[in-house]
Amino acid sequence: MSDSESSPLVIDNGNPRHIAIIMDGNGRWAQKRFMPRVFGHQAGAKAVKKIVEYCVNEKIQVLSLFAFSSENWRRPPEEVSLLMKLFNVTLQAQIKKLHEKNVRLLCIGEKSAFSTELQSKIEQGEALTKNNSGLTLVIAANYGGHWDMCQAAQQVMEKITSGQLQSPRITEELIEQHLSTAGLPEPDLFIRTGGEQRISNFLLWQLAYTEFYFTSTLWPDFGQQSLLEAIESFRHRQRRFGRTGEQVFNPSKSL
Ligand code: IPE
Ligand code: IPE
Ligand code: MG
Repeated sequence: MSDSESSPLVIDNGNPRHIAIIMDGNGRWAQKRFMPRVFGHQAGAKAVKKIVEYCVNEKIQVLSLFAFSSENWRRPPEEVSLLMKLFNVTLQAQIKKLHEKNVRLLCIGEKSAFSTELQSKIEQGEALTKNNSGLTLVIAANYGGHWDMCQAAQQVMEKITSGQLQSPRITEELIEQHLSTAGLPEPDLFIRTGGEQRISNFLLWQLAYTEFYFTSTLWPDFGQQSLLEAIESFRHRQRRFGRTGEQVFNPSKSL
């Protein structure tokens, strides 16, 4: 018997490099307490702080958080405007602290729909932290996976039309280089809180081989222990990327 055949088949993927989270359940969290939905969003912002801290301490490379989807404009105008305000205020209050923690902020999504004040705060935050080498914190705001693929295709088309790109062949690498997450590793672990089991137009392209973790915990209750449990679950998944389980344990049998 060779070593690999006799040893127990223990999987340990280590820590994920990139964690992507759909932070869902703020509204229900507030409703359970007979409070307005915005109260849940405020509590959700506090949960973000703890999760970011954990990722900084654990040296996670990238944390992507879905803050506002391209479909969330369909909510009542008062809720939308409160969410925008909360984004603005949180950014203002946290950006210096994030910078001190060596966090690099990256906002993805169609920013032109935001107020000029919010757009400039985002730009300033990104510019201040752009050379930081710690956690990359990706905030997806007015983001949609469909939008991301369309804007990537649009950029490619413009480069072809202007002659910047010689070969008109569309490759996966070419699309990837123009996605809003270009240059970042693909998410290893996707988490959705709040009990729903759907992607809701989050990182559609990027989640092709991500491990999924769904929990009924509502986002404001999702703390460091909950994240640890999700990471534990991820660590023991066998990631096959199309290969057989046998190939994964015996790389010599891979092509
Ligand atoms: C997620 O919580 C936050 C945003 C979409 C901004 P929800 O507001 O969707 O909470 P539920 O799903 O209604 O409980
Ligand atoms: C997804 O949550 C978007 C964010 C968390 C920002 P939703 O609550 O909007 O998703 P659906 O509409 O239930 O799919
Ligand atoms: Mg929801």
